[in-house]
Amino acid sequence: MAILIMFNQADPKLLKVHLKLSIDCPEVRIYPDVGDKDDIKCIILWKQDVGLLDVYPNLRMIASYGAGIENIINDPSLPKDVPVTRFIDDTLSNQMAEFVLGSILNYRLNLTLYRELQASSNWSCKNIKKGKNVTILGMGELGKTTAKLLHLNGYAVSGWSRSEKKNQSIKNYFGNKQLNLSLVNADIVVCLLPLTPETKFILNKNLFNILKKGAYLINVGRGDHLVEEDLLDALYHEKLSGALLDVYSKEPLPTDHIFWKHPKIHMTPHISSPTDKEKVARQILDNYARIKVGEEPINQVNPKRFY
Ligand code: GLV
Repeated sequence: MAILIMFNQADPKLLKVHLKLSIDCPEVRIYPDVGDKDDIKCIILWKQDVGLLDVYPNLRMIASYGAGIENIINDPSLPKDVPVTRFIDDTLSNQMAEFVLGSILNYRLNLTLYRELQASSNWSCKNIKKGKNVTILGMGELGKTTAKLLHLNGYAVSGWSRSEKKNQSIKNYFGNKQLNLSLVNADIVVCLLPLTPETKFILNKNLFNILKKGAYLINVGRGDHLVEEDLLDALYHEKLSGALLDVYSKEPLPTDHIFWKHPKIHMTPHISSPTDKEKVARQILDNYARIKVGEEPINQVNPKRFY
């Protein structure tokens, strides 16, 4: 009985160390040192190479190392009858909320701009940007917590989701028909959607055209939510005043990508809400204990809904 870790762009050895701190941890193997495939009961994945999952006859659980699961669901070798779980945790939601609040404050208070002006000894005072209407696209765990923190900080928050949600203190919108309505008053739009066939490329010119001139975009969902050309166009025509991007279609973003040097794009390297290794290790081992005695793991995703 063993757990297998298959990672790209995260350190499998570090997760193994955290798993091994618990006395209930079984043997942990790191791909490609798989050993006897019959031993593998659980696989932990992050941005894995696709096509490698259907060769483990005793597999009982596939666990995402993060909140997102699109890489797993889109893997053609994903066995149909094996439950897929994702990481759901307060630390993840709170970090995301803090990151979004910090990004908004940085934008409204011109903090990065002052740092740049400092380089040329330029004493120049700017106005605080006024609009405090924020629309959050995606009202799952991360969206809900972010909405709450922004509300507590005096922002007027609207939330849009696929199905109806009732969150206090924010304006709730749902379904395709209400998407435009949720966006017309937004000064700042935050994308926290899961990546699904319906939400892929949702941040496109049609959506940007609905916004007030000069709105600000924060994408902390996935790179493939965004049509890059449409963003560049909206920035050029000043439809959008700027964008903060934490996620990209290709990660790490190639060094010759136009975003790196764009004066209106603030980039961060997919760090808005890093997985807490200690917590994810505990959550996976608890689920491992469940599958060992034939119980269902918690935090399962619905592969048909992509989250
Ligand atoms: C990070 O992007 C995650 O999916 O947890």
